[in-house]
Amino acid sequence: MTTTEGYVLGRTDAEYERLRAQARVWEQATATLLDRVGLAAGARCLDVGCGPGETMRLMAERAGPGGTVVGMDIDAAVGASAVAMLHAAGHRQCTFVAGDATRDDPPAGGYDLVFARLLLLHLTEPVAALRRMWQWVAPGGHLVVQDYDMRTVDVDPPLPVVAEWRRVFLGTFTAAGRDIRLGHRLPHLFAEAGLGAPDGIEVTGRMEPLRAAGGMLAATYRSVAPAAVSLGIVTEPERDAWLSGMERAMTEHGDHTAMWPLLIGVHKQRG
Ligand SMILES: C[S@@+](CC[C@H](N)C(=O)[O-])C[C@H]1O[C@@H](n2cnc3c(N)ncnc32)[C@H](O)[C@@H]1O
Repeated sequence: MTTTEGYVLGRTDAEYERLRAQARVWEQATATLLDRVGLAAGARCLDVGCGPGETMRLMAERAGPGGTVVGMDIDAAVGASAVAMLHAAGHRQCTFVAGDATRDDPPAGGYDLVFARLLLLHLTEPVAALRRMWQWVAPGGHLVVQDYDMRTVDVDPPLPVVAEWRRVFLGTFTAAGRDIRLGHRLPHLFAEAGLGAPDGIEVTGRMEPLRAAGGMLAATYRSVAPAAVSLGIVTEPERDAWLSGMERAMTEHGDHTAMWPLLIGVHKQRG
């Protein structure tokens, strides 16, 4: 399974909508990190694995009309929708290039900011990807990476429906050769890639009642289900039963406390 063929999430409108909803949840954590590295007017920014462009918007707000924001994603459709959304909001400095970050280079020129959120988790060789992204950073610029440690996803008091989410969702990532602990490993991966220790680490967590978090659990399950079925981790009838069970759990156990994955951000300035 190659990095390109092995993307375990969906490429549907529902998945793009889920990514937008997820981006709203982490907007403050990402904005804090962009401000921490001093992203300012005129900056040249690159968002690798930009998805629907929500972080490009945060970059555009800071870089202003005199800056540039390039989104790069292997999925041309999501990039087109990102740029349409950004231009409609007046961010004309945003452009998109379709490309595979593991083998294609972005438009030439060093970047003051190279950023990737929830990208490395999808790659089988994250260290090689870090080395490539580091080359795209201009002297004095920053590499900023945010990724999940998904081991924390759970509910208290425990429920079988969430245990089953863990078996299917985390099991599919693992079977596809992805590391569900990737966020925790980022500092070590930076060192392994030859970047040295990060300049800073930010960890963001989130807990909320299952009645609020259940929608995201169901959406992530739906997104991974085709890969899980083809890997033999779950059958279609089991998938359908789980989705009904999750709806019931949100009503009957909506006050149980769900925990999200940890979002871990690390950054490093290039000398
Ligand atoms: C989970 S989404 C995150 C999107 C966005 N960064 C965010 O945080 O909202 C992962 C994105 O990485 C893209 N992607 C996966 N593998 C890629 C690769 N090899 N090169 C470029 N983009 C890739 C996917 O198409 C998807 O849009």
